[in-house]
Amino acid sequence: MNNFTLVENPLIIRDMTYLRDKETKEYQFRLALRRVAYSLAIAISSEFEMEEREVITPLEVTSGYKLKQQIVLVPVLRAGLSLVNSFIEMIPDAKVGHIGLQRDEETLEPIDYYYKTPKNLEISKVIVLDPMLATGGSASAAFTFLKNRGANDLILASLIAAPEGVKKLNKDHPDVKIYTAALDRELNEQGFILPGLGDAGDRTFGTL
Ligand code: PRP
Repeated sequence: MNNFTLVENPLIIRDMTYLRDKETKEYQFRLALRRVAYSLAIAISSEFEMEEREVITPLEVTSGYKLKQQIVLVPVLRAGLSLVNSFIEMIPDAKVGHIGLQRDEETLEPIDYYYKTPKNLEISKVIVLDPMLATGGSASAAFTFLKNRGANDLILASLIAAPEGVKKLNKDHPDVKIYTAALDRELNEQGFILPGLGDAGDRTFGTL
């Protein structure tokens, strides 16, 4: 596995247990997901370049830093929406694009239904938000679309990944850096991650 980072700390490990637990209620699921997203955002920020800038404190002039690049968050609808608020809280000046993809339950292929992205993708650091990397079809399609729009500095923030999805993304987009809070065992025949947590979109939005 290349360009792959497993983000772990005791809070993530505890929260992943809540997220996996089928008894976890919607509001607890959302809160745990929100907390894991904060840890992911902090871990991913190690990829950000800084630029020095002068700052005037109440006492004197000193040097400080700002982020060098525009950050663009791109949630993959729907489930990716569950990660947006935490990332925006950590990166309040981020711009946000949206990509709508729905995985066909028979073929497991992604079907696209919506795209809207901000300008200047070619000079931005673009973070795709999607809690689940299963076959990798949706993430791969999202990165192909973003590259066609000029993006070239790309990261995936995911909550849970299957080895099959990591392999596909490594093959289709070897430049993309993958961050995830859990690497699970495998996919089942329906394309669900095992042991997994079910469908993050359905559990977040109560559409089970
Ligand atoms: C889920 C998930 C990913 C995708 C992962 O979305 O949120 O986008 O499947 O599967 P893949 O790696 O095999 O492509 P889904 O199609 O269920 O849509 P939703 O977000 O609207 O629930």
